[in-house]
Amino acid sequence: MADYILAIDQGTTSSRAIVFDHSGSIVSTGQKEHEQIFPKPGWVEHNPMEIWDNIREVVGLALTRANLTYRDIAAVGITNQRETSVVWDKTTGEPVYNAIVWQDTRTQKICDELAALGGGAERYKARVGLPLATYFSGPKVRWILDNVEGAREKAEAGQLAFGNTDAWVLWNMTGGVDGGVHVTDVTNASRTMLMDLSTLSWDAEIAGEMGIPMSMLPEIKSSSEVYGHGREGGMVPGVPIAGILGDQQAATFGQACFEVGDAKNTYGTGNFMLLNTGTEPVPSKNGLLTTVCYKIGDNAPIYALEGSIAVTGSLIQWLRDNLGLISSAPEVEDLAKTVEDNGGAYFVPAFSGLFAPYWRGDARGVIAGLTRYVTKGHIARAALEATAFQTREVLDAMNADSGVELKELKVDGGMIANELLMEFQADILGVDVVRPKVAETTALGAAYAAGIAVGFWSGEQDVIDNWAEDKRWTPDMDVEAREKTYRNWKKAVTKTFDWVD
Ligand code: G3P
Repeated sequence: MADYILAIDQGTTSSRAIVFDHSGSIVSTGQKEHEQIFPKPGWVEHNPMEIWDNIREVVGLALTRANLTYRDIAAVGITNQRETSVVWDKTTGEPVYNAIVWQDTRTQKICDELAALGGGAERYKARVGLPLATYFSGPKVRWILDNVEGAREKAEAGQLAFGNTDAWVLWNMTGGVDGGVHVTDVTNASRTMLMDLSTLSWDAEIAGEMGIPMSMLPEIKSSSEVYGHGREGGMVPGVPIAGILGDQQAATFGQACFEVGDAKNTYGTGNFMLLNTGTEPVPSKNGLLTTVCYKIGDNAPIYALEGSIAVTGSLIQWLRDNLGLISSAPEVEDLAKTVEDNGGAYFVPAFSGLFAPYWRGDARGVIAGLTRYVTKGHIARAALEATAFQTREVLDAMNADSGVELKELKVDGGMIANELLMEFQADILGVDVVRPKVAETTALGAAYAAGIAVGFWSGEQDVIDNWAEDKRWTPDMDVEAREKTYRNWKKAVTKTFDWVD
């Protein structure tokens, strides 16, 4: 068997290809950012063609940088930004509209109309594990069919396909208009609002209410099996594509969170904390999502509770791109270090409304507690602290839902390079925060899923054996100070509500 696994990570801001060896170490990487398109306030789009071009480029980069060819690759795993919705024409291979990104809030009206049919925002929750919110795919597909000329007719004639970006990439890799496979995995399907969590199949009634023809939907498969092979003349001809996981589930897998009660938190454009709850879906009473964590081949599915936070790392990008406060994201730490504390300022970045645990589509961002004392250093610190406070709210919800106090939190993602944030995170949570040696857990998780499917790795035990701790932050803040600042944060959150009718 070939010696390497290739993971493709189609993320919110960039696409990456990473080659891993048998020890789970990174051999080489290719990465390219794509354009973030903001046509109106609250709207966020990506160009699916640009994404597909970038995937081809980064795979080429990763292979040539390691002096490898597709013959050295035993299998390919795909992981992706979840919920982001692509609708394309199966006969031309062209998307009918830009991808509508998970952060986009344009579907609020559609969500309100569905809620008004009865049951409110929880109308489908018992079946799909999710509240009606702009975050998820179903309403985005509905918007495209309602607003793109000719789309509904084509969809009803069976000409259009829908997928999150995993399915878009897979379809193109396996042949596109010349017989590409139209498949997604259970974790991505669990983010659409269209999959029944207990049967792991599409719910025809919900699809009917949303006006989405079933013929558009990809076939749902496990997270680890051979879905198809790279097309002849493509970048990995004949290589099995054998793993798909939504990026947050992939990170949970790559962090070896295989026991009930194991949790990880990924610090990306947003933050996503997932807690393994085992073979039964656990409904949340505290604003969390119930989602599929992973399913390996024919094994029973494993479920998770998830706390999704829309804006964390993207707030730092916003300080850089929209305010020009810093010229690169890592500079935020130096700026924050110019002051001792937040100077009384609290920054609630409700740019896409508020996700967990509030699910308030009407919320918009605020900076509260300003006085003339406040400097840009305080704003930088408040922006970093926002990530930690939002994570505390999710952790409190997890503890309440699961009835178990989390002892430590495994972390990954870009922002964990920020020492000031990680120390403050441990302080605000009151538990240890632990970073693994291979912090690229998202790509790693997808690589493991693909490698397990083709026998490159034997199973979860290999993932556990390869996982190693790199650094641990322990809490060092007195409890009274911690709870006082957290109370102030909660007060600031209440100021974000009722901005949008
Ligand atoms: O649910 C959205 C999430 O999957 C996006 O993750 O890392 O691409 O920002 P990321």
